[in-house]
Amino acid sequence: MAKSISLRVNGRTVRIVQPGHLTVAAVLARSGLDHLHRSVELAPRAPVCGMGSCFECRVTIDGRPYQRACQVLATHGMEIESDV
Ligand code: FES
Repeated sequence: MAKSISLRVNGRTVRIVQPGHLTVAAVLARSGLDHLHRSVELAPRAPVCGMGSCFECRVTIDGRPYQRACQVLATHGMEIESDV
């Protein structure tokens, strides 16, 4: 049976039916965010590698800044903030 979790993304509640373990990056993609921050030239930046190397998925998770969303499993009640 699929498990449902809810978390907050930029102040908005997102409910995810979690068939297995999903990373925060996967949850953010499912929630419709197409970029998470901007470059110094203000170009939109989004996750690239999905394996912890590019740092393009940096978000704040439960008040901890600069977390790589592709390396953290999403859990019920998480508070996630992107820079956009
Ligand atoms: S997507 Fe590259 S470090 Fe997360």
